[in-house]
Amino acid sequence: MAPHTKRRIAILTGGGDAPGLNAAIRAVVRHAVFTLGWEVLGVRNGYNGFLRPDGVFPLTLDMVRGILPLGGTILGAANRGNPFAQEVVVNGKKVVRDVSDDLVARIRELNLDAVIVTGGDGTLGAALDLYRKGAPIIGIPKTIDNDVPGTDFTIGFDTAVSVAAEALDRLHTTAESHHRVMVVELMGRDAGFIALHAGIAGGADIILLPEIPFHYEVLAAKVLGRKRRGRMFSIVAVAEGATPVGGHKVYRQPGEGLSIARLGGISLHVADYLAEATDTETRALILGHLQRGGTPTARDRLLATRFGAEAVRMAEQGLVGHMVALHGTRVEPIPLEEALAQRPKRVRPDDDMVQAARAIGTIFGDEIERLQSGQPL
Ligand code: F6P
Repeated sequence: MAPHTKRRIAILTGGGDAPGLNAAIRAVVRHAVFTLGWEVLGVRNGYNGFLRPDGVFPLTLDMVRGILPLGGTILGAANRGNPFAQEVVVNGKKVVRDVSDDLVARIRELNLDAVIVTGGDGTLGAALDLYRKGAPIIGIPKTIDNDVPGTDFTIGFDTAVSVAAEALDRLHTTAESHHRVMVVELMGRDAGFIALHAGIAGGADIILLPEIPFHYEVLAAKVLGRKRRGRMFSIVAVAEGATPVGGHKVYRQPGEGLSIARLGGISLHVADYLAEATDTETRALILGHLQRGGTPTARDRLLATRFGAEAVRMAEQGLVGHMVALHGTRVEPIPLEEALAQRPKRVRPDDDMVQAARAIGTIFGDEIERLQSGQPL
């Protein structure tokens, strides 16, 4: 092996967890420590770890042994970890502080050649601002929602889709046995990729997405149309952020301070409406964090390993201020600035996947003209 200069890098996992994060951590450590002989520091609980006395520690090869199939993150995650807006308690009162200067100073003090930040758009947005302040950031995109711009796929999405599709398969058998409508609520605040992909893979009759507002009466017409054709059950996959035309998202808990509002419950509204309008027994189920937990799929492990290895290669070349991205079949660097300047990724209503689903008879709830013109649904 060619001689190398010993370097020191750090890695953190910000935002919510996503299956495959451990595979990325393992790839970073194996490439940097085993192959290049560098030192890798682990940062606990997102950016916060940099400012805690025991928040930064040496990550060894032994520590990443056996973690490839593990969900979650061995580093810990932090939902409210934005260093530009940290909630701290001063004299018993919660106040919001910008601790980014302290963070950048700590990164300098640790003499880091690169800080590898795995995150969704929130964590990566903060990463770009930290880079602008002088921190040597390299980003790795992760989120089950797959809504980070600049990359075709993020770590965690494939697993979430597989879990959701399996849930739809399982609900099919019980729905058919009991002649019921089953409404399954999947994650996806503003982007409906999980519901779209899992809905198609799991054979949902109705898919409801944040990007395509729906009409309740169209859903009822679909269920009744199926019943007329002898299909006494129906499966609905609804993204948590889906909204009826003229309506609004359904929240379980309003946002407060720095915590964002928690969505949840649209499936119950849809189920109640369909039970009444179609006189069919209906059940609703919120799949929730099951979609984020557990063993990553082979595809997520593969993507995470490629992203992790590429991030270290970028560190070797001094390519900071960039994020790894999947473009088609290639993993390559993209400037964070360029990636995040694009609008957050959303399902395009004219996407070929939406069209394929429509072509095979799946509806999205926006087919009001078809309903009004008397065409079958
Ligand atoms: O962004 C990923 C995601 O799973 C969203 O789909 C969901 O709305 C949110 O996180 C849930 O976050 P929390 O873990 O705070 O409940």
